[in-house]
Amino acid sequence: MKTIVIFYSLEGSTKLIAEMIAKETDAEILELKPEKEIPKEGFKKFFWGGKSVIFKEKPKLLNPIPDLEQYDTIFIGTPIWASSFVPPVNTLISKVSIKNKKLVFFACHSGGGADKCFDKLRNSFADNTVIGTISFADPIKDNREKIHSQVKNWLQEIL
Ligand SMILES: Cc1cc2nc3c(=O)[nH]c(=O)nc-3n(C[C@H](O)[C@H](O)[C@H](O)COP(=O)(O)O)c2cc1C
Repeated sequence: MKTIVIFYSLEGSTKLIAEMIAKETDAEILELKPEKEIPKEGFKKFFWGGKSVIFKEKPKLLNPIPDLEQYDTIFIGTPIWASSFVPPVNTLISKVSIKNKKLVFFACHSGGGADKCFDKLRNSFADNTVIGTISFADPIKDNREKIHSQVKNWLQEIL
């Protein structure tokens, strides 16, 4: 039973959750890193990030995606950008065929929720079984212990 946690994070929230999940499930971890990152500061990030979602960009990634056939369970984590998942996940979808897997989606947002994003992910990974989803509001700014126990309890429910 091999598990991998695949995620992108611009500002650390999704990375925090990805690392907690990987530690708790003894999973491998793959951070999707675009060759060209969007600016992190202020208005610029919303402009360039928003544009990249609207135009469904598929940024080139620095790291190769391993053969995913070897995993039974794949966690996919994304920040919410313009109510959707981020462009590096478009790249993942276009590069690899993921079928007949147990999938788990996790997302970080700043108050707008993740339901729309999870619906889009379900559509994009249609030939799989989604066994769980969870979202957090900017967990990097929250109490670490609280978030950790939420992650642990949720993992116990779904796995
Ligand atoms: C380009 C861009 C668009 C965003 N759009 C949304 C949104 O539609 N809804 C929302 O709740 N948060 C939105 N956010 C906030 C992030 O989803 C939130 O801060 C998240 O926790 C960041 O995750 P990260 O630290 O892993 O990058 C947006 C952030 C960026 C940079």
